[in-house]
Amino acid sequence: MLLCWVRSVSASRSTPDGTLMYPVPATVNIDGRITDAADATVSVFDHGFLFGDGVYETIRTYNRMPFLLPPHLTRLRASAARLSLKIPPDDGELARRLSETMAKVNVGGEVTLRMLVTRGVGPLSYDPAACPTPTVVIIALPHQAPPPKVHRDGVRVVVAGVLRNHPRSVDPSIKSNNLLNNVLAMQEAIRRDAYEAILLNHRDELTECAQSNLFAVREGIVMTPPLDAGLLEGVTRNFLFEMGADLRIEVREEALREADLSSIDELFLTSTTREVVPIVEVGDVCIGSGRPGPVTARLLSRFRERANTLTRPAAG
Ligand code: PDD
Repeated sequence: MLLCWVRSVSASRSTPDGTLMYPVPATVNIDGRITDAADATVSVFDHGFLFGDGVYETIRTYNRMPFLLPPHLTRLRASAARLSLKIPPDDGELARRLSETMAKVNVGGEVTLRMLVTRGVGPLSYDPAACPTPTVVIIALPHQAPPPKVHRDGVRVVVAGVLRNHPRSVDPSIKSNNLLNNVLAMQEAIRRDAYEAILLNHRDELTECAQSNLFAVREGIVMTPPLDAGLLEGVTRNFLFEMGADLRIEVREEALREADLSSIDELFLTSTTREVVPIVEVGDVCIGSGRPGPVTARLLSRFRERANTLTRPAAG
């Protein structure tokens, strides 16, 4: 196990994705009505606010086109179904609202879209029947890519003390608005000057990070914790299996433990907003050479190439 001497990017000064900026220059769509951020309000009796009772997706554009929209909408509906939450607008209507809202973000460049569906407004009761109409919110804002050094030099993360939710509590496979566990893990990462927090499960296996999925590379084979470790089935994670197949790099699910970190060559995280980010340090432990590795670099490059091709106007 090597101690790392190279200082990698941590979370100091600002959050890694630059989201400390407020008020955000956002355009918001609430149940079909578009306003700017200042005028976007939801009732304090919305159960999303009261109980975190709702689900969400974060989607980003390439070439101003939402990337991998169908799997995001599928996951949104699957998450909602787990909470017995109905989403009345069909996918066509949701896509139409996304593009109308996005079109109002009139700074150039790409857009990040956060779509939330909450239980809706009702009395202070956990009974779903109390809220007949869900609230559907879309927040569209200029996409803040991580600073270039994040992809160039890699980042330092820590293993958090807080565990990933047990699948029999708030199941991590549900992308729910109930994010307190992730918030606590991220608070710990920020306190420890790290970019992200890896969470262990109740069996002490690695699961994922507070806001992203986790992959390790050993002898050219890419491994990611299996879904039954208790984690979110990331849309980017799934896309990465395809990138691996394209490049003839084996990508497979495999249970991983903290002790494995000393014998892997590369480590990286994936998410919609961050793509593929090399991790070069976990706590005080250097990963591989302490520099982003070649397999990670090939996957990132292929990822960007495919994201660009799939969203080019000619790609339909
Ligand atoms: N985060 N795991 C967790 C806990 C996440 O919150 C996310 C996404 C991922 C990666 O999923 P995807 O590849 O579908 O983005 C994994 C998003 C970006 C967010 O919370 O805004």
